[in-house]
Amino acid sequence: MRWKCGVLSVMVVFLFLFGGAAVGVPAEKGGRALFEKKCGACHSIDKPKSQGKTRAEWQATVVRMKGHGAALTDADISAIVDHLARAYPKK
Ligand code: HEC
Repeated sequence: MRWKCGVLSVMVVFLFLFGGAAVGVPAEKGGRALFEKKCGACHSIDKPKSQGKTRAEWQATVVRMKGHGAALTDADISAIVDHLARAYPKK
């Protein structure tokens, strides 16, 4: 019976670690809200929405937007890049 306990607790740990990440709701939601709030200030958010970029390209784009004067903290940048990389990947 002992091994069953071990297997069960390993499964619980796995579910705990990867279940949340797979669903990914909080990160995705936060990134999307930030994107909609911060990225429509100078141009329409249709501008990024019509693009498809790799994560690295989105990172470079968002950092460039900060250079244009976008009010973004490092945490905002990573949340927005995360959202963009998932929602608008390279076609
Ligand atoms: C301070 C004003 C400003 C804000 C805020 C801003 N942008 Fe821009 N954006 C620009 C300007 C100016 C250009 C045109 C010059 C260029 O492409 O660098 C541009 C162009 C773009 C382009 C088209 C060029 C390309 O690389 O594909 C995309 C996509 C883009 N912005 C995405 C974003 C995203 C995502 C955000 C939010 C993180 C954002 N922008 C916020 C000023 C801004």
